[in-house]
Amino acid sequence: MPRSQARFVCQQCGSVHSKWTGRCEGCGAWNSLIEELPREAPPQGLTKDRRGGRPLGFVGLTGPSMLPPRRRTGIAELDRVCGGGFVPGSAILVGGDPGIGKSTLLLQAAAAMASPPGKSEAAPPSAAYITGEEAIDQVRLRAERLGVAASPVLLAAASSVRDIVASLDRDNAPGLVVVDSIQTMYLDTLDSAPGTVSQVRGAAQELIRLAKRRGFVLVLVGHVTKEGVIAGPRVLEHMVDTVLYFEGERGHQFRILRAVKNRFGATDEIGVFEMSDRGLAEVPNPSALFLAGRAIPDADLGIDEPAGSNAGQLSGSAVFAGNKRARPVLVEVQALIAPALLGTPRRAVVGWDGTRLAMIIAVLDARCGLSVGANDIYLNVAGGLRIVEPAADLAVAAALVSALTEMPFPADAVVFGEIALSGDVRPVGHTEARLKEAAKLGFDAAWMPLRRSSGGQRPHAVETGLKAVPIGHLSELVTRLSSRHASHRRSLMEIAK
Ligand code: TYD
Ligand code: MG
Repeated sequence: MPRSQARFVCQQCGSVHSKWTGRCEGCGAWNSLIEELPREAPPQGLTKDRRGGRPLGFVGLTGPSMLPPRRRTGIAELDRVCGGGFVPGSAILVGGDPGIGKSTLLLQAAAAMASPPGKSEAAPPSAAYITGEEAIDQVRLRAERLGVAASPVLLAAASSVRDIVASLDRDNAPGLVVVDSIQTMYLDTLDSAPGTVSQVRGAAQELIRLAKRRGFVLVLVGHVTKEGVIAGPRVLEHMVDTVLYFEGERGHQFRILRAVKNRFGATDEIGVFEMSDRGLAEVPNPSALFLAGRAIPDADLGIDEPAGSNAGQLSGSAVFAGNKRARPVLVEVQALIAPALLGTPRRAVVGWDGTRLAMIIAVLDARCGLSVGANDIYLNVAGGLRIVEPAADLAVAAALVSALTEMPFPADAVVFGEIALSGDVRPVGHTEARLKEAAKLGFDAAWMPLRRSSGGQRPHAVETGLKAVPIGHLSELVTRLSSRHASHRRSLMEIAK
């Protein structure tokens, strides 16, 4: 019998190596290999013995399906992201940075499921919360803060999958089981430590199998690494039906729940929450939150017809419809322009690239006749976000032009597009995702590049209900901004060379 060989498993991608190396050849991650003992004898192929298999009963694509109705949590934003509620028997993975509010959200969801309005007192509790990270007292304390302590949630502190399966493998299993977190769970049949790839995979497999067998909704909390992916193998994302990410900027109150995979619904929905002192509150009108500190969007403020009054709106700010890590994000770009008092004008850039700012200033000067360069310029991306994509060019230009002309950029519009040295505005990727996000967050219009390939048509904007304001050249942005107020044109002419 061959000696059982040690193997090294990458904790990022799950690929197996026979030797330890500093860098995984599979995914290129550094220092991610951990020695794990082989689980069992290598799998045998079917070549030796093909008997014993039963023929499959193939069926057509149409037919009666007996999907049970979805279970609503009562938290509307969460239900929406899941495609209208949890599907019984499905497994959901919720990832997010530490402290973002995963445990809070799921405790709130469990409490809401356990005591839905109108449920009779005699019915058995329908939600269980299993914590492998916190002590019972900590969870109770949080429940108290959230005001859900009276809810009949089944609470347990456990990390042994065998114990969990033993307690839940029964006919009247709860309808929702939250496991916080999958990285703390362990299977005693495996030798490796909790959190390693084989443990995460093994534990998840057991729990998912149990959920399918008993028809309950399984919610697994997954940690993310500093790169932002769920720790452990990508394999985990393949095993579950739905993957949700809970995101937010540190120091800010809003949180976004986003589906990145959903076998039972679309993945372009987001849910917006606000962290308060009583847990996570739903934000039905998120644009208010995103525009906090900005002027309130005015529905009457058209793009084509000049607004009668811009009182209360601040110039020098534009909302950029961005795309970070392949996920859409809206962020405010702010610019301040002041006359330079001493020799060399100052440039202070926070959250963006100073070189690209210099380029846009040069293009504004050379192609649009706006002399911005001689002034002190301060550029800030609000919320502490760092933008790297060139699609922000047009937003930066909009903020600059608005600051210079003191014409507010429409508060109900987002803007994106890449600026070429010629002043042309080039189309950028993920247009549809950007527009959908903007529509979801309550914006009405998008200043965006012309889509030349389809003859200047704006199908995306029409689909999402946003009004598209096509910008083919940077000078069009300048004209449009200044024409929003007829009497302002004169002062713009004075500024222009
Ligand atoms: P938590 O749900 O523990 O995060 P995760 O499970 O994702 O690590 O969230 C903890 C944070 O939320 C903590 O920093 C405090 C904050 N918080 C509030 O602001 N209000 C509240 O009512 C609760 C319960 C937590
Ligand atoms: Mg937690």
